[in-house]
Amino acid sequence: MEKTIIVTGGAGFIGSNFVYYMLNKYPNYKIVCVDCLTYAGNLSTLKKALENPNFRFEKLNICDKEGIRKLFSEVKPDIVVNFAAESHVDRSIEGPEIFVDTNIKGTQTLMEVCRELNVPRYHQVSTDEVYGDLPLDRPDLFFTETTPIHASSPYSASKAGADLLVLAYCRTFKFPATISRCSNNYGPYHFPEKLIPLMIINALADKPLPVYGDGLNVRDWLYVEDHCKAIDLIIHNGKIGEVYNVGGHNEMANIDIVKLILKKLDKPESLITFVEDRKGHDRRYAIDPTKISSELGWLPDTKFADGIEKTIDWYLSHKDWWEEIISGEYQNYYSKMYGGK
Ligand code: NAD
Ligand code: TYD
Repeated sequence: MEKTIIVTGGAGFIGSNFVYYMLNKYPNYKIVCVDCLTYAGNLSTLKKALENPNFRFEKLNICDKEGIRKLFSEVKPDIVVNFAAESHVDRSIEGPEIFVDTNIKGTQTLMEVCRELNVPRYHQVSTDEVYGDLPLDRPDLFFTETTPIHASSPYSASKAGADLLVLAYCRTFKFPATISRCSNNYGPYHFPEKLIPLMIINALADKPLPVYGDGLNVRDWLYVEDHCKAIDLIIHNGKIGEVYNVGGHNEMANIDIVKLILKKLDKPESLITFVEDRKGHDRRYAIDPTKISSELGWLPDTKFADGIEKTIDWYLSHKDWWEEIISGEYQNYYSKMYGGK
């Protein structure tokens, strides 16, 4: 069956991987990407998609209600999947305002237009960070869908605010939405400000690898394609009004990831530099994916050992992509955040 899916934030890391995943899996679907191309959005990421007649790109801000209404009226989507967001915790500490605008107001704008036009299905891509963090000395604890929202950073608070609005729309207006809360993703097209690509790129250039605090903070890493697979299942088979946690039980301390990357690239551990800790730094994230596994049959396909290998190979063979990014405005960001480190 043919379907038209609007993917917001499709020029970013996970959104672009989702665009490729869907174009590949559903040759009869039309995918329309809405993205205003912030620093994190790159049209070069969508180069191959733009050659596909089933793909269309619209440069548009999700807060622009008129623009969104006009496009959605014309496209008549069957499903809207909202990836568009400000996504970096460190940036949210430097300047929280845009996080509230994009992540909360943008989500509300999309939902209002969907409601007005009776779009049959909306999916909100959220994060495990809305649950706050878990202590390091309680490995028996995991985030489930009923764990209370307890966000720590302006980023996670803005994502939590959006989630609460989505759930309120479901209950109050019978808005046909679902939410996924995924753990940390890694893979191709990951913006170099985030841990894994930053460490790969710095190691390749023999630059210091800035590890925050003691490096013992734990994240639960999932290969991006497995996240895309989960969203595909939710938008087709998920139950309206429900939240689904997504994660592959792959907890790792930051320092171990950094050491692994150095080993794979045959670089010395002397490149590791411990720097001042992030303010309010969440200690540990860990997802319990029982619900999505038992209800929708989701299981991750890629083991971390294979995923990190594929990811490093991708950065080695796509230097053009990231060299262009780190040569521009990113330089200013890097000097501001890391100084001379
Ligand atoms: P990203 O920063 O790489 O991409 C975000 C995209 O949204 C960019 O293309 C940007 O141009 C676009 N965008 C930003 N503001 C916009 C606006 N106002 N209008 C239109 N487009 C806008 O982010 P990502 O890592 O791909 O994350 C995508 C989504 O997944 C986010 O909602 C994030 O909260 C969530 N998430 C991310 C992770 C992760 O590990 N990266 C994990 C779980 C959930
Ligand atoms: P990040 O990729 O920013 O994702 P998130 O904060 O959303 O989990 O960071 C992952 C972990 O790596 C987090 O504990 C912070 C840490 N980190 C560093 O130690 N150094 C860095 O330069 C960056 C960007 C992150």
